[in-house]
Amino acid sequence: MKTALAALGLALLPSPAAAQTPDTLRDAFDQCFLVGTALNRWFIADEVPGLLDFVGDQFSAVTAENAMKWGRIHPEEGQYAVAIPDRLVSFAQANDMAVVGHTLVWHSQTPDWVFEGEGGQPASRELLLGRMKDHIDTVVGRYRGRVHGWDVVNEAILDDGSWRPSKWREQIGPDFVEQAFRFAHEADPKAELYYNDYNMTAPGKRDAVVAMVKDLQAKGVPISGIGMQGHFGIGRPSMEDFTAALDAYGSLGLKVMITELDVTVLPWPENLAVGADISSAAENREELDPYTDGLPEEVARAQADQYAALFRELVARKDFVSRVTFWGVSDADNWKNNFPVRGRTDHPMLFDRDLQPKPAFDAVMAEAKGCSGG
Ligand code: G3I
Repeated sequence: MKTALAALGLALLPSPAAAQTPDTLRDAFDQCFLVGTALNRWFIADEVPGLLDFVGDQFSAVTAENAMKWGRIHPEEGQYAVAIPDRLVSFAQANDMAVVGHTLVWHSQTPDWVFEGEGGQPASRELLLGRMKDHIDTVVGRYRGRVHGWDVVNEAILDDGSWRPSKWREQIGPDFVEQAFRFAHEADPKAELYYNDYNMTAPGKRDAVVAMVKDLQAKGVPISGIGMQGHFGIGRPSMEDFTAALDAYGSLGLKVMITELDVTVLPWPENLAVGADISSAAENREELDPYTDGLPEEVARAQADQYAALFRELVARKDFVSRVTFWGVSDADNWKNNFPVRGRTDHPMLFDRDLQPKPAFDAVMAEAKGCSGG
């Protein structure tokens, strides 16, 4: 191309379009990593006018917030509910977006029947492993070649680094993680396969995840990436903990992703462990819900600073950071309005309730300067 242009005596000047500053996340970070979002059922079903167009413009990856969880996609033995997941995958293909499958093996949102044998007794190792394989074969197999990567195992380790007691672990044994990855690889050998968890910057969990992954790698288990969920707050995590975790996971030679990013602006209830354990809950009180009338400028600024600091470190590690996914699209309809306290008014995303960019959006976009120039 260059030679042909030179032969015609034409110089290679940037076109006016190429010289413009990108105004979407997917374009701005194109040379760094995918930027994704999570979609709930009514977004996927196109029940919110204009939302899907906005999503296709802004993001290059998409995750179903709930629709591919076991309880949703496989509620009864042998019955699969694929209408919403199918729509998500078609939407992503039409908009050249990567699909992330979330999630195959999780202690939560998995129906009781999965763990039960004859007469309601706990299912044997063989029965449960068979169900796990059948589920993974069916779900991963259905979207083979169309899902970029799967959160294969979600939240198997606690903050102190110990294994989470779960029916998967109790009834199958410690190799349930390895088995899940092997089944997923058989079902779609080209899909990326991830371990995904929250509080991945907590040193105890971080070190345990590193040890687990090294063990999986030594056994030849096909794991390709680590997902740090990223349910953060202003000043939380510290940049020291954040970068130490990124580098610890990056040193394993795997892709590292932020898979469920949000930065809450609301106070965390005292006496409640910080994290994303969905069983955590606290009662609403006025002092826990201070921004029902809107986000004060100084808080929006502090949130923007936190987002900028996070993206600065992610861009600096673009060699191994492959995706950053926000856990939602805007402040409206965001899970943080109900977690860990129901019915609050949180403002955790880059876009406000009217899909307008917030100071955090501009702050994140400014960090994309580190993506250009290879
Ligand atoms: O859709 C039903 C609605 O029909 C019903 O009337 C209503 C009654 O409560 O429930 C609605 O379903 C809720 C669903 O979100 C959609 O809003 C479920 O109760 C609620 O449990 C579910 O919460 C989800 C949660 O995972 C549990 O699966 C959140 O949306 C989702 O954001 C959250 O995501 C998890 C990740 O998968 C894993 N990492 C942590 C993250 C936060 O917990």
